[in-house]
Amino acid sequence: MNVASLKYEIFSQNIITYPFNWEKEFGNKRKLNIEIGFGGGEFLAYLASKNPEENYIGFETSLLSCERAQKKFFEKNLINVRIIRGDARVLIPELFKDKSVSRVYVNFPCPWPKKRHENRRIFVKNFRDTLSAILKDNSEMHLATDVDWYAEEVYENFKKDERFEVEEIIKNFDREFKTRYEKKWDDEGRNKYLLKIKKVNYSPIERYFIGEDNMPHKKIKKINIKKIEEISDNIFEEDMKKVIIRESYYDNKNNKYLIKTLASDNNYTQEFFVTVTKREDEWLIKLDSMTSPYRTPSVKYAIETIAKYLGE
Ligand SMILES: C[S@@+](CC[C@H](N)C(=O)[O-])C[C@H]1O[C@@H](n2cnc3c(N)ncnc32)[C@H](O)[C@@H]1O
Repeated sequence: MNVASLKYEIFSQNIITYPFNWEKEFGNKRKLNIEIGFGGGEFLAYLASKNPEENYIGFETSLLSCERAQKKFFEKNLINVRIIRGDARVLIPELFKDKSVSRVYVNFPCPWPKKRHENRRIFVKNFRDTLSAILKDNSEMHLATDVDWYAEEVYENFKKDERFEVEEIIKNFDREFKTRYEKKWDDEGRNKYLLKIKKVNYSPIERYFIGEDNMPHKKIKKINIKKIEEISDNIFEEDMKKVIIRESYYDNKNNKYLIKTLASDNNYTQEFFVTVTKREDEWLIKLDSMTSPYRTPSVKYAIETIAKYLGE
Protein backbone atom coordinates (compact mmCIF):
# COMPACT_ATOMS: atom_id res chain seq x y z
CA MET A 1 0.00 0.00 0.00
CA ASN A 2 1.26 3.50 -0.83
CA VAL A 3 1.36 5.43 2.46
CA ALA A 4 1.36 8.77 0.63
CA SER A 5 -2.13 8.03 -0.70
CA LEU A 6 -3.45 6.69 2.58
CA LYS A 7 -5.99 8.86 4.30
CA TYR A 8 -5.90 8.34 8.03
CA GLU A 9 -9.12 10.16 8.83
CA ILE A 10 -12.48 8.50 8.33
CA PHE A 11 -15.38 10.94 7.95
CA SER A 12 -17.95 9.08 9.94
CA GLN A 13 -20.94 11.14 8.75
CA ASN A 14 -20.35 9.78 5.25
CA ILE A 15 -20.44 6.12 6.18
CA ILE A 16 -23.15 4.36 4.20
CA THR A 17 -23.93 1.50 6.59
CA TYR A 18 -23.28 1.02 10.29
CA PRO A 19 -21.50 -0.60 12.11
CA PHE A 20 -18.47 0.26 10.00
CA ASN A 21 -16.74 -2.44 7.95
CA TRP A 22 -13.25 -2.35 9.51
CA GLU A 23 -12.18 -5.49 7.71
CA LYS A 24 -12.69 -3.77 4.38
CA GLU A 25 -11.09 -0.53 5.59
CA PHE A 26 -7.87 -2.19 6.78
CA GLY A 27 -7.94 -5.00 4.21
CA ASN A 28 -7.49 -7.60 6.95
CA LYS A 29 -9.17 -9.20 9.96
CA ARG A 30 -6.55 -8.18 12.51
CA LYS A 31 -7.33 -7.15 16.07
CA LEU A 32 -9.02 -3.78 16.57
CA ASN A 33 -7.81 -1.50 19.39
CA ILE A 34 -9.16 1.93 20.28
CA GLU A 35 -7.69 5.02 21.88
CA ILE A 36 -10.08 7.72 23.10
CA GLY A 37 -8.85 11.33 23.22
CA PHE A 38 -5.46 10.64 21.59
CA GLY A 39 -4.32 14.29 21.79
CA GLY A 40 -1.17 14.64 19.67
CA GLY A 41 -1.38 10.96 18.66
CA GLU A 42 2.00 9.95 20.16
CA PHE A 43 0.63 6.93 22.01
CA LEU A 44 -1.35 5.73 18.98
CA ALA A 45 1.69 6.09 16.73
CA TYR A 46 3.82 4.22 19.25
CA LEU A 47 1.33 1.35 19.59
CA ALA A 48 0.72 1.09 15.85
CA SER A 49 4.42 0.96 15.01
CA LYS A 50 5.19 -1.46 17.84
CA ASN A 51 2.39 -3.85 16.83
CA PRO A 52 2.12 -3.76 13.02
CA GLU A 53 0.04 -6.95 13.11
CA GLU A 54 -2.82 -5.17 14.93
CA ASN A 55 -5.08 -2.26 13.93
CA TYR A 56 -5.61 0.96 15.88
CA ILE A 57 -8.45 3.45 15.74
CA GLY A 58 -8.27 6.78 17.56
CA PHE A 59 -11.11 9.13 18.52
CA GLU A 60 -10.52 12.81 19.19
CA THR A 61 -12.73 15.89 19.20
CA SER A 62 -10.00 18.42 18.43
CA LEU A 63 -9.30 19.25 14.78
CA LEU A 64 -5.76 20.42 15.53
CA SER A 65 -4.93 17.18 17.35
CA CYS A 66 -6.23 15.19 14.39
CA GLU A 67 -3.92 17.07 12.05
CA ARG A 68 -0.89 16.66 14.31
CA ALA A 69 -1.50 12.95 14.80
CA GLN A 70 -1.77 12.31 11.06
CA LYS A 71 1.61 13.92 10.46
CA LYS A 72 3.15 11.48 12.96
CA PHE A 73 1.50 8.47 11.31
CA PHE A 74 2.70 9.66 7.93
CA GLU A 75 6.29 10.17 9.12
CA LYS A 76 6.31 6.66 10.57
CA ASN A 77 4.81 5.14 7.39
CA LEU A 78 1.99 3.57 9.40
CA ILE A 79 -0.74 1.68 7.58
CA ASN A 80 -2.56 0.13 10.55
CA VAL A 81 -4.05 3.24 12.14
CA ARG A 82 -7.13 5.38 11.46
CA ILE A 83 -8.69 8.31 13.28
CA ILE A 84 -12.17 9.72 13.61
CA ARG A 85 -12.99 13.24 14.74
CA GLY A 86 -15.98 13.32 17.05
CA ASP A 87 -17.34 12.29 20.40
CA ALA A 88 -16.07 8.78 21.11
CA ARG A 89 -19.00 8.10 23.43
CA VAL A 90 -21.48 8.55 20.62
CA LEU A 91 -19.44 7.05 17.78
CA ILE A 92 -17.92 3.90 19.28
CA PRO A 93 -21.23 2.07 19.84
CA GLU A 94 -22.31 2.89 16.29
CA LEU A 95 -19.07 2.00 14.51
CA PHE A 96 -18.13 -1.27 16.20
CA LYS A 97 -19.98 -4.55 16.21
CA ASP A 98 -20.61 -6.48 19.41
CA LYS A 99 -17.51 -8.26 20.77
CA SER A 100 -15.22 -6.91 18.07
CA VAL A 101 -12.69 -4.78 20.02
CA SER A 102 -9.58 -6.15 21.74
CA ARG A 103 -8.48 -3.20 23.86
CA VAL A 104 -9.62 0.34 24.69
CA TYR A 105 -7.16 2.96 26.02
CA VAL A 106 -8.13 6.23 27.67
CA ASN A 107 -5.12 8.35 28.65
CA PHE A 108 -5.45 11.36 30.92
CA PRO A 109 -9.01 12.34 30.02
CA CYS A 110 -10.33 15.74 31.09
CA PRO A 111 -11.97 14.99 34.50
CA TRP A 112 -14.62 17.75 34.19
CA PRO A 113 -14.80 18.24 37.98
CA LYS A 114 -17.73 20.69 38.02
CA LYS A 115 -21.20 19.25 38.53
CA ARG A 116 -22.58 21.17 35.55
CA HIS A 117 -19.94 19.59 33.26
CA GLU A 118 -20.41 16.05 34.55
CA ASN A 119 -22.14 14.92 31.38
CA ARG A 120 -18.97 15.67 29.36
CA ARG A 121 -17.01 12.94 31.14
CA ILE A 122 -16.09 9.81 29.21
CA PHE A 123 -16.94 7.54 32.11
CA VAL A 124 -20.70 7.80 32.34
CA LYS A 125 -23.01 4.79 32.70
CA ASN A 126 -23.65 4.58 28.95
CA PHE A 127 -19.96 4.17 28.36
CA ARG A 128 -19.87 1.08 30.59
CA ASP A 129 -22.75 -0.30 28.53
CA THR A 130 -20.79 0.38 25.35
CA LEU A 131 -17.68 -1.38 26.67
CA SER A 132 -19.69 -4.38 27.78
CA ALA A 133 -21.10 -4.70 24.25
CA ILE A 134 -18.16 -3.93 21.98
CA LEU A 135 -15.20 -5.44 23.87
CA LYS A 136 -14.43 -9.09 23.25
CA ASP A 137 -14.93 -11.32 26.29
CA ASN A 138 -11.98 -11.00 28.70
CA SER A 139 -10.62 -7.96 26.84
CA GLU A 140 -9.57 -4.86 28.75
CA MET A 141 -9.98 -1.12 28.98
CA HIS A 142 -7.01 0.79 30.41
CA LEU A 143 -7.48 4.19 31.97
CA ALA A 144 -4.53 6.37 32.99
CA THR A 145 -5.26 9.52 34.99
CA ASP A 146 -3.54 12.01 37.26
CA VAL A 147 -6.76 12.73 39.18
CA ASP A 148 -7.15 10.61 42.34
CA TRP A 149 -10.91 11.04 42.88
CA TYR A 150 -11.56 10.33 39.21
CA ALA A 151 -9.59 7.06 39.40
CA GLU A 152 -11.48 6.10 42.58
CA GLU A 153 -14.87 6.94 41.11
CA VAL A 154 -14.27 4.95 37.91
CA TYR A 155 -12.87 2.04 39.96
CA GLU A 156 -15.93 1.98 42.25
CA ASN A 157 -18.43 2.21 39.41
CA PHE A 158 -16.87 -0.67 37.49
CA LYS A 159 -16.42 -2.73 40.65
CA LYS A 160 -20.16 -2.54 41.35
CA ASP A 161 -20.92 -3.63 37.79
CA GLU A 162 -20.98 -7.40 37.36
CA ARG A 163 -20.10 -7.14 33.68
CA PHE A 164 -16.52 -6.21 34.64
CA GLU A 165 -13.59 -7.33 36.77
CA VAL A 166 -11.37 -4.59 38.13
CA GLU A 167 -7.72 -4.86 39.15
CA GLU A 168 -6.51 -2.73 42.06
CA ILE A 169 -5.45 0.78 40.99
CA ILE A 170 -1.72 0.96 40.17
CA LYS A 171 -0.30 4.17 41.63
CA ASN A 172 2.59 5.84 39.78
CA PHE A 173 2.71 3.13 37.14
CA ASP A 174 5.56 2.88 34.68
CA ARG A 175 4.64 2.06 31.09
CA GLU A 176 7.10 1.73 28.20
CA PHE A 177 5.78 4.91 26.54
CA LYS A 178 4.58 8.14 28.13
CA THR A 179 1.86 10.30 26.60
CA ARG A 180 2.35 14.05 26.27
CA TYR A 181 0.18 14.80 29.30
CA GLU A 182 1.87 12.06 31.28
CA LYS A 183 5.29 13.66 30.69
CA LYS A 184 3.88 17.01 31.71
CA TRP A 185 2.41 15.69 34.96
CA ASP A 186 5.57 13.65 35.68
CA ASP A 187 7.62 16.84 35.34
CA GLU A 188 5.31 18.52 37.86
CA GLY A 189 5.71 15.56 40.24
CA ARG A 190 2.01 14.68 40.23
CA ASN A 191 0.77 11.22 41.16
CA LYS A 192 -0.78 9.13 38.42
CA TYR A 193 -3.05 6.10 38.45
CA LEU A 194 -3.63 3.18 36.08
CA LEU A 195 -6.84 1.14 36.02
CA LYS A 196 -7.16 -2.13 34.14
CA ILE A 197 -10.74 -3.23 33.72
CA LYS A 198 -11.70 -6.54 32.16
CA LYS A 199 -15.06 -7.09 30.48
CA VAL A 200 -16.37 -10.47 31.56
CA ASN A 201 -20.07 -10.30 30.75
CA TYR A 202 -21.79 -9.05 27.62
CA SER A 203 -24.88 -6.87 27.53
CA PRO A 204 -26.53 -5.58 24.33
CA ILE A 205 -26.88 -1.87 23.48
CA GLU A 206 -29.25 0.23 21.39
CA ARG A 207 -27.73 1.54 18.18
CA TYR A 208 -29.22 4.55 16.45
CA PHE A 209 -27.33 5.31 13.23
CA ILE A 210 -29.18 3.95 10.22
CA GLY A 211 -26.89 4.96 7.35
CA GLU A 212 -27.41 6.79 4.09
CA ASP A 213 -29.24 3.87 2.46
CA ASN A 214 -32.17 4.26 4.81
CA MET A 215 -32.71 8.00 4.37
CA PRO A 216 -35.88 8.87 2.55
CA HIS A 217 -36.37 11.62 -0.01
CA LYS A 218 -40.00 12.55 0.09
CA LYS A 219 -41.82 13.61 -3.04
CA ILE A 220 -45.19 15.28 -2.80
CA LYS A 221 -47.41 16.70 -5.50
CA LYS A 222 -48.57 19.82 -3.71
CA ILE A 223 -47.40 21.80 -0.72
CA ASN A 224 -48.98 24.58 1.22
CA ILE A 225 -46.41 27.44 0.92
CA LYS A 226 -48.04 29.30 3.80
CA LYS A 227 -47.20 26.33 6.02
CA ILE A 228 -43.47 26.64 5.23
CA GLU A 229 -43.60 30.21 6.47
CA GLU A 230 -45.44 29.11 9.62
CA ILE A 231 -43.46 25.96 10.39
CA SER A 232 -40.99 27.61 12.87
CA ASP A 233 -41.26 26.44 16.51
CA ASN A 234 -43.29 23.36 15.64
CA ILE A 235 -42.40 20.30 17.71
CA PHE A 236 -43.01 16.75 16.54
CA GLU A 237 -42.51 13.77 18.84
CA GLU A 238 -42.80 10.00 18.53
CA ASP A 239 -41.31 7.37 20.88
CA MET A 240 -37.68 8.45 21.61
CA LYS A 241 -37.62 10.84 18.65
CA LYS A 242 -38.11 14.58 18.93
CA VAL A 243 -37.96 17.17 16.14
CA ILE A 244 -37.98 20.93 16.69
CA ILE A 245 -38.26 23.29 13.76
CA ARG A 246 -36.17 26.40 14.29
CA GLU A 247 -36.74 28.58 11.22
CA SER A 248 -37.46 28.48 7.52
CA TYR A 249 -35.86 30.62 4.79
CA TYR A 250 -36.30 31.07 1.11
CA ASP A 251 -33.01 30.66 -0.73
CA ASN A 252 -33.50 32.93 -3.78
CA LYS A 253 -30.26 31.97 -5.44
CA ASN A 254 -30.96 28.27 -5.48
CA ASN A 255 -34.70 28.59 -5.68
CA LYS A 256 -35.51 26.39 -2.70
CA TYR A 257 -36.73 26.57 0.88
CA LEU A 258 -34.43 25.70 3.76
CA ILE A 259 -35.81 24.50 7.08
CA LYS A 260 -33.46 24.65 10.06
CA THR A 261 -34.22 21.59 12.17
CA LEU A 262 -33.12 20.05 15.48
CA ALA A 263 -33.63 16.33 15.91
CA SER A 264 -32.92 14.18 18.96
CA ASP A 265 -32.81 10.46 19.54
CA ASN A 266 -32.90 9.66 23.21
CA ASN A 267 -31.24 13.04 24.04
CA TYR A 268 -28.59 12.91 21.31
CA THR A 269 -29.35 16.12 19.40
CA GLN A 270 -28.22 17.24 15.94
CA GLU A 271 -28.90 20.37 13.91
CA PHE A 272 -29.28 20.37 10.13
CA PHE A 273 -31.24 21.82 7.20
CA VAL A 274 -34.02 20.17 5.26
CA THR A 275 -34.58 21.48 1.73
CA VAL A 276 -37.89 21.83 -0.07
CA THR A 277 -37.37 22.17 -3.82
CA LYS A 278 -39.85 22.49 -6.66
CA ARG A 279 -39.32 19.94 -9.41
CA GLU A 280 -41.35 19.86 -12.65
CA ASP A 281 -44.61 18.59 -11.23
CA GLU A 282 -43.72 17.77 -7.66
CA TRP A 283 -41.84 18.95 -4.55
CA LEU A 284 -38.76 17.20 -3.21
CA ILE A 285 -38.11 17.21 0.55
CA LYS A 286 -34.69 15.96 1.64
CA LEU A 287 -31.63 16.58 3.82
CA ASP A 288 -29.65 19.55 2.58
CA SER A 289 -26.39 18.28 1.11
CA MET A 290 -24.38 21.03 2.84
CA THR A 291 -25.23 19.70 6.31
CA SER A 292 -24.30 16.18 7.30
CA PRO A 293 -25.94 14.91 10.45
CA TYR A 294 -25.56 11.27 11.35
CA ARG A 295 -28.52 9.50 9.83
CA THR A 296 -30.61 8.47 12.83
CA PRO A 297 -34.30 7.57 13.31
CA SER A 298 -35.11 11.16 14.35
CA VAL A 299 -33.43 12.63 11.23
CA LYS A 300 -35.48 10.28 9.07
CA TYR A 301 -38.58 11.16 11.09
CA ALA A 302 -37.85 14.89 10.52
CA ILE A 303 -37.99 14.44 6.72
CA GLU A 304 -41.16 12.38 6.96
CA THR A 305 -42.98 14.71 9.35
CA ILE A 306 -41.99 17.90 7.50
CA ALA A 307 -43.25 16.38 4.23
CA LYS A 308 -46.50 15.33 5.88
CA TYR A 309 -47.01 18.71 7.54
CA LEU A 310 -46.38 20.67 4.32
CA GLY A 311 -48.62 18.41 2.27
CA GLU A 312 -51.64 18.72 4.53
C1 LIG B 1 -6.13 15.97 28.56
S1 LIG B 1 -6.07 15.51 26.90
C2 LIG B 1 -5.05 14.06 26.89
C3 LIG B 1 -4.40 13.80 25.55
C4 LIG B 1 -3.57 12.51 25.45
N1 LIG B 1 -4.35 11.34 25.70
C5 LIG B 1 -2.38 12.56 26.40
O1 LIG B 1 -2.41 11.78 27.38
O2 LIG B 1 -1.46 13.32 26.15
C6 LIG B 1 -7.70 14.83 26.64
C7 LIG B 1 -8.09 14.74 25.16
O3 LIG B 1 -9.34 14.09 25.04
C8 LIG B 1 -10.07 14.71 23.99
N2 LIG B 1 -11.51 14.41 24.24
C9 LIG B 1 -12.28 14.89 25.26
N3 LIG B 1 -13.51 14.38 25.21
C10 LIG B 1 -13.53 13.52 24.13
C11 LIG B 1 -14.53 12.69 23.58
N4 LIG B 1 -15.77 12.64 24.09
N5 LIG B 1 -14.22 11.97 22.47
C12 LIG B 1 -12.98 12.05 21.92
N6 LIG B 1 -11.98 12.82 22.43
C13 LIG B 1 -12.24 13.54 23.52
C14 LIG B 1 -9.71 16.18 24.10
O4 LIG B 1 -9.90 16.88 22.89
C15 LIG B 1 -8.23 16.11 24.48
O5 LIG B 1 -7.38 16.15 23.35
